Amino acid sequence: MKKIVVLFSGEGRNLHNIIKKLHNKECKVVCAITNNPKAKGLINLPIKSEVLRHNDFNSRKEHDKALVKLIGRYKPDLTVLAGFMRILTPEFTKNIKAINLHPSLLPKHKGARAIQDSFDDKDTEAGVTVHWVEDELDGGEIIVQERFKKSNNETLESFTCKIKELEYKLLPQAIVKILYES
Ligand code: GAR
Repeated sequence: MKKIVVLFSGEGRNLHNIIKKLHNKECKVVCAITNNPKAKGLINLPIKSEVLRHNDFNSRKEHDKALVKLIGRYKPDLTVLAGFMRILTPEFTKNIKAINLHPSLLPKHKGARAIQDSFDDKDTEAGVTVHWVEDELDGGEIIVQERFKKSNNETLESFTCKIKELEYKLLPQAIVKILYES
């Protein structure tokens, strides 16, 4: 069975969703790695996890170097960034085959405020993107993207729910597609 490593920084809802939908069915989630020892996603995690605190390193490059080494130990077919809120250096992007989940219709609304920014803009549609991780932040080649219509009485809460639901559907689909169709 193919192997994946998942990187996350906080709630880890997408991580838990990937485990629920794919682990030991479509692939093995061999490890979840976080930069944040307080990440909520670590709670009740049914697979192996590792914490690599970025504060323990002198530079982004040094942290990425250690991250690459750690991922390498698990020999994954693919690394999945699911809410991994770090700007990556070429140390990482040149050495790891990775995809990233982003809560907007890229190239619109790159960065950490994508949900709020998509909610605030004048567009009638919003959506979610899965893309290859490359040097530019949220800038790699798009693998899949799905959109929905904003409703007239949309609140930030209802909007966020739509984004999350779409993420829980799209990211597992993208992982399976990459692992078995490419
Ligand atoms: C998700 O909405 C993901 O799209 C976003 O962080 C959230 C993580 O939630 N990622 C980015 O904004 C990346 N630029 P989770 O930890 O509950 O899965």
